[in-house]
Amino acid sequence: MSSTAATRPKASAKRGTIYLGGTGMLTWLLHRISGIAVVYFLTLHIYEALQLFGGPAAYNEATAAYKQPWFRPFEVALILAVTYHALNGLRVSMFDLFPRTTKHHRKVFMIGAAIFVLIALAISVVMLRPLFGMPLGDIFAVKSTSSLIYALVIVLPVALPVLYLAWRGSGLATGPMIVSSTNSRPAPMANQFERLMWSFMRLSGFIMIILVFMHITIMHFINDIEQITGQFVYGRFAALPAWAWIDLAILFCAWLHGLNGLRIVLTDYVRRGTGRKVVLACVGLFGLAWFGLGASVLFYVQQNAGALMK
Ligand code: HEM
Ligand code: HEM
Repeated sequence: MSSTAATRPKASAKRGTIYLGGTGMLTWLLHRISGIAVVYFLTLHIYEALQLFGGPAAYNEATAAYKQPWFRPFEVALILAVTYHALNGLRVSMFDLFPRTTKHHRKVFMIGAAIFVLIALAISVVMLRPLFGMPLGDIFAVKSTSSLIYALVIVLPVALPVLYLAWRGSGLATGPMIVSSTNSRPAPMANQFERLMWSFMRLSGFIMIILVFMHITIMHFINDIEQITGQFVYGRFAALPAWAWIDLAILFCAWLHGLNGLRIVLTDYVRRGTGRKVVLACVGLFGLAWFGLGASVLFYVQQNAGALMK
């Protein structure tokens, strides 16, 4: 989100202060960080789904990292990042749709924070319950070097950009980046493409509240992560081929929303010149290729699930 004239720093604000806009700045920064972290997860998540082209065993090998007990807290972090981002996205959209509610932004922030803390506690307890009472030796056991390396691939690159964004956004590097007290990005009026994207971010966000949380509930709360195997995926696609269309809808909303978010974030930092063109071309080309591959593996599994499960 770029700074806008309407949201310039107060005269008293100094360059280098930790952050300026109180709740607005903090919630915006966390929204951006959680959004980018989930884009990275989704990139790997589609890569893992692509292993389904090789059959259930190849998928099991690619997702072995998730089955290690010590990896569970990172899964909790993922679900909490999605939950925070969704709740804050709803708050921002409410201010956009009903501008009069901005008057109560502090109260809305407090209610949102309380809801998040309650949901976060419930999710953490349910997801970490299998670890309670487990001997420490079992929790930290490394089942294979390749899944340890893949787990580090999942976790480490999230930590680095998150720290970078936190540092840039905090104002410690360049002076505070300013956002409005409600942290909503005003609808761009001059550019039709940007206006369309602004609306798409909100519409896809609403749809994802249902689709993504249904997906997480099936994968994490109805079934345990231990049960999510290649056989499980082929089995459920054989039982209900429409899962391919439902997953396609999640892919469409989450991947395009995430990519457009990534574009906004990157072009906030690389604003002009060849660098900007290169960034846009990379995000666009990689995004389209990953979308095409992600969609085709869903229909490959749909077509082959019946024969494979016989
Ligand atoms: C689950 C429901 C979700 C909702 C309700 C939601 C809502 C939103 C909204 C309203 C914005 C625009 C904020 C603004 O313009 O000020 C936004 C931005 C963003 N979203 Fe989401 N989102 C959701 C899921 C996701 C997912 C799954 C991803 C990743 C794949 C993601 C990544 C991003 C990114 C990277 C941004 C840009 C942040 C920025 O400009 O600083 N979102 N989201
Ligand atoms: C750790 C929690 C998660 C687990 C265990 C999980 C599991 C799975 C599995 C097994 C599939 C394969 C197809 C199927 O059976 O439906 C899948 C596909 C998919 N998941 Fe997840 N999921 C998780 C979190 C998420 C999140 C948070 C998102 C959205 C941000 C997401 C988005 C997708 C998408 C878009 C696909 C289709 C991929 C493709 O087309 O190649 N998943 N997930």
